[in-house]
Amino acid sequence: MTAPSRPQLAPADDLTGAAEIDINRAIAPLIEQRYSSPIVRPSRAADVAALIDTGFPRGDESLEHLVQQITSAIDRYPRRNTHPGFFGWIAPSGLPSDPLAHAMVSVLNENLGGYWASPVGTMIEKTVIRWLADLVGFDQQAEGVLLSGGSISNMAGIASACANHFGPGYREQGLYAFSQASRPVILCSRAAHFSVRRAVIMLGIGTDNIVAIDTDDDFRMRPDHLAETLRQQQNVVCVVATAGTTNTGAIDPLEEIAALCRQHGVWLHVDAAYGGGGLMSDLLQPRYRGIEQADSVVMDMHKWFFQSLGGSLLLYRDPASARQLFLESSEYLPAAVDQEPEDYAFFHIGPELSRRFRALPFYIAMRCYGLERLGRNVLHNVQCAEYLAELIGRQEQLELVVAPQLSILCFRFRPQGLVDTEIDRINSAIRDQIQLEGDFLMSATQVYGRPVLRVCIINHATRAEHVEGLLASVLRIGESLI
Ligand SMILES: Cc1ncc(COP(=O)(O)O)c(C=O)c1O
Repeated sequence: MTAPSRPQLAPADDLTGAAEIDINRAIAPLIEQRYSSPIVRPSRAADVAALIDTGFPRGDESLEHLVQQITSAIDRYPRRNTHPGFFGWIAPSGLPSDPLAHAMVSVLNENLGGYWASPVGTMIEKTVIRWLADLVGFDQQAEGVLLSGGSISNMAGIASACANHFGPGYREQGLYAFSQASRPVILCSRAAHFSVRRAVIMLGIGTDNIVAIDTDDDFRMRPDHLAETLRQQQNVVCVVATAGTTNTGAIDPLEEIAALCRQHGVWLHVDAAYGGGGLMSDLLQPRYRGIEQADSVVMDMHKWFFQSLGGSLLLYRDPASARQLFLESSEYLPAAVDQEPEDYAFFHIGPELSRRFRALPFYIAMRCYGLERLGRNVLHNVQCAEYLAELIGRQEQLELVVAPQLSILCFRFRPQGLVDTEIDRINSAIRDQIQLEGDFLMSATQVYGRPVLRVCIINHATRAEHVEGLLASVLRIGESLI
């Protein structure tokens, strides 16, 4: 048979040659800079833009040149979450095993939609989920999925709570059909993360339908107020409890909350996006008692599991409602219902279809360092926070505003004889000056309506000398500002 004559095709380029670069050599300076000061340097967007080539690319630059340009821009205007003196927000340090693991993820480029798209990846993700479900105390029925971050995990968890609450017909008829008799209500404490509000907005429930539960003096949800609210409110879709609040690290009383949820037949979603990593330490585990009774739990790998961005685990104690909500099929992807391991699809229990191989960095870290070592570092973070609180308590000029319940604490420089507005100004100035000096960073927040210095310790490389150094800087700068 004679071959059909081939049409004239436009020539395609071979792109592989241009990508030949020694990756080790390319990223070595970035690895070296991880612990360098300054952590951050003040910048204006125009200064940064001047270092970046913002013109439409011609496509003729070498990778070496690009690496060099980006490395030097970052060196000039860094934001080193990796630095052991970084105490701001809840920023992940990343583990030394991460650069390799993330490079592997990128080279492999497998799509973790399910087994058909990534047999090894699916097994690894299911393995990682099993390890983490064991940490939470869920039984074999539990399933989970790794998503991009705590915000999307909280949204998917609350969406599954909707499917559970409204039951059959919710998928087809939507919220509207179930809101005629009374509005659907979400309960969470005043200290819950704002991603809960955003989830409620995106799900079409609306923030007017969040009923905020009061907190106690330690910023923990008050079970008595929750009990009263559950008695009063109809159509409660779920209670969102927090295990490690963003501002102060408070863990809501999960056992009491779980008992109330059980009593009222309400879904309990636990946002442990920050606090979840604490479960790696068996000494810290008792603080989370009750988490095993949640219906869904969120734990960010990219917070206190020390992992580089971005991965967050959404766990379901019983995945039935999630599967009822998310299971879809199409002409090109018929829905097998996950009965055989070879049919397993993560998109049947979560919102994303195409997903990165997010489990690999954690799988490698766990096998390389082990739970015990990672757990020791988590505990060390908590002990550094407690040590810092003790040092603060010894200084007359300092006031511990929120003692650490995990690895977050808040304090103020508070010399005698100054009015509150003056103290507020000095504390803001201390924070700014510390950032300028470059060895430490604290983020701004308010407690009881007043600015405080907030310290969050979630870096595996932070040691006692770093918190001592921070305190010495606060005192030195504070005194110079009086
Ligand atoms: C308790 C809590 N939940 C959820 C989130 C949102 O997580 P992400 O930034 O990964 O979306 C945060 C972020 O800090 C958080 O502290």
